[in-house]
Amino acid sequence: MTEPYDAIILGAGAAGLMCAAIAGQRGRRVLVLEKAEQPGKKILISGGGRCNFTNINTAPDRYLSANPHFAKSALSRYTARDFLALVEAHGIAWHEKTLGQLFCDGSSKQIVAMLLEECAKGGAEVRCDVEVTAVDHVDGVFSVAANGQVLTAKAVVIATGGPSIPKMGATGYAYELARQFGLKVVEPRPALVPLTLGGEDVLFRDLSGVSAPVDAICGKTSFHEAALFTHKGLSGPAILQISSYWRPGDTVSIDFLPGKPAGWLRELKRTAPRSTLRTILKDALPDRLAVTLADRLGHESDLQTLSDKLLDAAEARLARWPFCPNGSEGLAKAEVTSGGISTAELSSKTMQAKKVPGLFAIGEAVDVTGWLGGYNFQWAWASGWAAAQEI
Ligand code: FDA
Repeated sequence: MTEPYDAIILGAGAAGLMCAAIAGQRGRRVLVLEKAEQPGKKILISGGGRCNFTNINTAPDRYLSANPHFAKSALSRYTARDFLALVEAHGIAWHEKTLGQLFCDGSSKQIVAMLLEECAKGGAEVRCDVEVTAVDHVDGVFSVAANGQVLTAKAVVIATGGPSIPKMGATGYAYELARQFGLKVVEPRPALVPLTLGGEDVLFRDLSGVSAPVDAICGKTSFHEAALFTHKGLSGPAILQISSYWRPGDTVSIDFLPGKPAGWLRELKRTAPRSTLRTILKDALPDRLAVTLADRLGHESDLQTLSDKLLDAAEARLARWPFCPNGSEGLAKAEVTSGGISTAELSSKTMQAKKVPGLFAIGEAVDVTGWLGGYNFQWAWASGWAAAQEI
């Protein structure tokens, strides 16, 4: 029988490759098992093929988790600047697109190639087309069954991601393993996902293809970005962001004219008394959207003929237009899965399971979900790095 590996890492995605590279470079004997035919498939399709690999504004309050403090340790020890330094050391050209989002100038393939080079530097072996089907733990040694073989290791790292985009082969295997080892799982939900509209709101589907910069608001959270109407409902960055905070039954309000001071319609009644709500909205918003909103507001006549009370009500509606999504487009369209292996089960410093020494969980498998814009990869890098310090 061969010597056990120091660690077997399940999954050659963002988190698994980072963990393998760093642990290997720390002198550990590491094997990565990946069921797909190639590593890093989600990296390859990310950011429209240019991989939004991190966000320079990374901060713990941009992550959702049952324990909002959990991500602090890893994120502070392996930062966006650290990852950027690695990217630059590999001569990969990059640019900031917007809101701190860093992308490759060239292709996501460069990020995967970089991670594989780092793995090779540390002697970490990456085997593809190998699906892990069982993990056991007896007398302090883990045995991992894959493709009819059983491999042994002192540590196992669950880096199999979340079930979003099942057509890429994504599954909830991480949760299955966690439960097998007695670790709790916070209910997984699609996040960063388009929302669907029904009932009265269904009429807005006619606006499919129209987009506008808005504030999307759910409870106390709001995002100022573009919203896009689709044939199923609402999408665009503002909606994807707010979807992570939305629960079935919640209202999502849209401020179609963010930044307008209170009383702006009364002021217009004074300065432009002959204008109508329709013309005002057409000046500020895409035509089709302006017409739909004006029709809904239903006041066709000049502002000078409308009462202040009526104008205040129209202003309030435009600032908090309520939508009641009847669902989301689900895991099939979700960029990530929120929820996952409970952070209460893991050390925030090492990502090791408190009850099962030697078992680690990193990346999307864990109940830490970032905003849109490079935050999820930064969590994958940081949590992978943290686990690698302990292996
Ligand atoms: P990830 O899913 O990357 O890797 C898990 C790996 O485990 C997979 O390769 C899988 O095949 C393998 N695996 C699963 N089960 C296995 C088994 N039983 N045996 C062996 N292997 C197994 N984020 C961001 O920050 N910036 C961005 O630009 C984007 N863009 C983006 C676009 C799209 C379309 C999607 C779907 C997602 C994004 N994301 C993103 C999110 C990002 O891709 C995601 O957060 C990370 O890939 C998570 O990394 P992990 O390593 O945790 O899982």
